Amino acid sequence: MERISFVGLGVVGLITQVCFASRGYYTIGVDSDEQKLRTLRSGNLPFHEPQLRELFDEAKINVKFSDDIDYAIENSRLTFITVGTPSKPDGCIDLTQIMHVCRAIGRALRNKSEYHGVVVKSTIVPSTTDNVIKRILEEESNKNIGKDFGLVVNPEFLREGTGVNDTFHPHLLVIGSSDKRSQEELERLWLEFYNKDAPVILMTNCVNAELIKYANNAFLATKVSFINSIANICQKFDGADVEKVAKAIGMDPRIGPLFLKAGPGYGGSCLRKDVKALISVSQAIGFYPTLLMAVDQVNELQPMQVVELAKSVLGDLKGKIIAILGVAFKKDTDDMREAPSIKIIRHLLQHGAKVRAHDPMALESLKKIFGGEIIYAKNKFECLTNADCCVILTEWDEYKSMKPDDFVKYMKTPCIIDGRRIYNANDFVHSTKYFAIGLKPDKEQLTNTYKIKNQRKRRLE
Ligand code: UGA
Repeated sequence: MERISFVGLGVVGLITQVCFASRGYYTIGVDSDEQKLRTLRSGNLPFHEPQLRELFDEAKINVKFSDDIDYAIENSRLTFITVGTPSKPDGCIDLTQIMHVCRAIGRALRNKSEYHGVVVKSTIVPSTTDNVIKRILEEESNKNIGKDFGLVVNPEFLREGTGVNDTFHPHLLVIGSSDKRSQEELERLWLEFYNKDAPVILMTNCVNAELIKYANNAFLATKVSFINSIANICQKFDGADVEKVAKAIGMDPRIGPLFLKAGPGYGGSCLRKDVKALISVSQAIGFYPTLLMAVDQVNELQPMQVVELAKSVLGDLKGKIIAILGVAFKKDTDDMREAPSIKIIRHLLQHGAKVRAHDPMALESLKKIFGGEIIYAKNKFECLTNADCCVILTEWDEYKSMKPDDFVKYMKTPCIIDGRRIYNANDFVHSTKYFAIGLKPDKEQLTNTYKIKNQRKRRLE
């Protein structure tokens, strides 16, 4: 079996490495972060990802970690580049890391006599492979693509939280290259990896492969901003509910049901960054991307909908205790990157609210952002205790299973703002003040505080 190296051990790099190792491939993971390497070498993972722990334990024998690209190139036949391509402050993509590793890979290839495959998995704007990566690799190695080494773009569609499953069961593989041999070598590897379960493999050139990745993420972001816009409209009409609307339009096969969940806006390390990079690259080539700009703008403003809802429900936020359930950008991850909760908490604090937060995984990351400005609850019930309002910002299963009584029992006023639409409104409106993104609160709810107070009193008696 091929020996494979991975340069850049973030979510994509590490998950892909461990998945290959679990299927018997000898793998070398390279990263420049010494702390991360120490964590990995001691058998721990630097981030939470379902199923990865078990897979890592099983596959340890096939996994090695190093900070040395020369060693990785020398001891493998194929290298996946999986380093980050973050946004610069103006939204355009920062290629520093990828250029740095390409130079190092190129230099290492100079000393290698056998053919070596280079596979770009990092997300890069159109024409980067042909105009930047290919040039660097050829210059540094003094060798030629196709003859001495291969170069392929193989974009990644895995999601955090379901990354292992997505790697084993992708909907599609895209292999972009200008060189037939490189393309066929990678296709062979993936067919071997998937054995009888191979997904559709689409062969194309580098620029299309790069564009497919951006178009994919931009479309997902568009769906989320679209449904959030509809949610904001729903919120103005008595009896309107975005959940009902989304369910119906999702049944139209031309639309489809996924990515139509209204919420506080998309977060994470990818959608926001990729939409901004596509906007930036479009402008650089003289195209004004009106739609993408709107998608981005809707998302920037969406967290404020939650703050506005809190203000309309509680009036003056000064001194009010607000319990935040969930801060990670989505469930099953400890990732806080671009999480809407950050903006929401910041605004609540600016309005004088006292914020107490809980998350099953992401509290340590939250502490790094807010330090002593907020209170960190050990569990969801501690978070709710004596709170004036509870705001749900991540759809963790442990919150989904909560009942109205849990809120009635612990809170000063059982007032809920469901920012993720995790509850059925009908189950909650009778015993709590229940408000949600994309749901117009009716007048009865706004005036049922007395009923709720009495209920709570009865329960405590
Ligand atoms: C996203 C893409 O889904 C992956 O296909 C892609 O490989 C990845 O980016 C990447 O480029 O690396 P990810 O960021 O892990 O994956 O998470 P998503 O599941 O796409 O969720 C992104 C954000 O959108 C989350 O904050 C989520 O809560 C939000 N979202 C998603 C909604 O608000 N509503 C929805 O209906 C779906």
